[in-house]
Amino acid sequence: MTDEIHKAASTARSRAHAPYSKFHVGAAIRGASGKIYTGANVENASYPEGWCAETSAISAMIMAGETQITEVCVVGTGAQLVPPCGGCRQRLAEFAGADTPVHVGDEAAIRRSFTLAELLPAAFVLESGSD
Ligand code: THU
Repeated sequence: MTDEIHKAASTARSRAHAPYSKFHVGAAIRGASGKIYTGANVENASYPEGWCAETSAISAMIMAGETQITEVCVVGTGAQLVPPCGGCRQRLAEFAGADTPVHVGDEAAIRRSFTLAELLPAAFVLESGSD
């Protein structure tokens, strides 16, 4: 079952535009419909203007009309795990529940799975109607 989302994230990684860091990342997210949306990191000559693979994948999901994430997979490379950065954890939390699985690995395999709450405890959310 995780094979599909891992393969999608690995394929997305091959499309990364990362000529500056040379660190290619792919992300895949499953929407409530079951469909998988993918993205890669897109860097820029003006370094801070680049963005992460997870952000690209969220954008693809939103453009397809979905707003609920049920599963995430991020694929990087190297000995160190590549879990979502802090900003992407918050972006994922906009559309995913605390129990949403976030798989992290390399092209060979998923190396570890977290829940979103493990990655972003005590998440900030805006209560509708506050203030
Ligand atoms: N990166 C991601 O795409 N996702 C993450 O969760 C961590 C970092 C990218 C951003 C940048 O293009 C490269 O990895 C090196 O930081």
